[in-house]
Amino acid sequence: MKDLFTEKQLNPLASIEDWEDDLLKRYPEETKEKEEYRNYEDSERVDTVREFYKLNHTYQTYDFVTQKEANFLKFDKKEMSLWEAVDFLNTLVDDSDPDTSLDQLQHLLQTSEAIRADGHPDWFVLTGFMHDMGKVLCLFGEPQWAVVGDTFPVGCQHSDKIVYPEFFQANPDSTDERYNTKYGVYEPNCGLDKVKMSWGHDEYLYQMMKDYLPEEALYMIRYHSFYPQHKENAYAHLMTEHDHEMFKWVDKFNPYDLYSKVPTPPDAKALRPYYEDLVAKYLPSTLKF
Ligand SMILES: [Fe+2]
Ligand SMILES: [Fe+2]
Repeated sequence: MKDLFTEKQLNPLASIEDWEDDLLKRYPEETKEKEEYRNYEDSERVDTVREFYKLNHTYQTYDFVTQKEANFLKFDKKEMSLWEAVDFLNTLVDDSDPDTSLDQLQHLLQTSEAIRADGHPDWFVLTGFMHDMGKVLCLFGEPQWAVVGDTFPVGCQHSDKIVYPEFFQANPDSTDERYNTKYGVYEPNCGLDKVKMSWGHDEYLYQMMKDYLPEEALYMIRYHSFYPQHKENAYAHLMTEHDHEMFKWVDKFNPYDLYSKVPTPPDAKALRPYYEDLVAKYLPSTLKF
């Protein structure tokens, strides 16, 4: 991978948070005025976000996802406890403004603490705390556009409701007749479990967690970046009734992910015992990455 792409092509964003900041701009919190998000609109960031999507939409093909699955779903890269993984993830440093960017642990804790404050079940809190652990892929040398970004099905037509749909013109799948029809390799309403999604931190963590968490939690992890469905409803034709039922949980999760930034950061040290117990309740002591 590293030989094929320049550093700029691997990592166009100053920070992987820039994708999430762009989501906030696209999907502002309803109670807030669009005005408040103006500060995200500096033109340099808009350019790098565009570049990021261009690469993502060009290279995330059916074959690309198949290759990434074959490599990363062996889980032979590293063995870590969840806490070691959190520390590891926190070594992901951003070049962007250090005043505004939170470290990864803070984003996870702010998400999970907001869920806990609303009195949700403990597995929901744990899901908030873990949901972005798959971003360790960045630390295994993966390009940003193969770790974060809105996810979408591969193997069938790209919806024009996906952000920057014009960039799919450069994706070889869009001229491959196996993959460029409405259903492509899938059957109507076959269920999302049969659908290959563009590769990133969602699917990777889902595959790691699938034996340990309730189904609702697994849907939240697996589809939290699937904005083309949970915000735009662009792929209902591939979903079952059961998928729709479960997406109520994906919808419930999304505001905690996007809008949980608080002015006073949670005290990670004080919270650690609570999260240690929670992790021990559901997960084995070491995880294979
Ligand atoms: Fe995420
Ligand atoms: Fe997140």
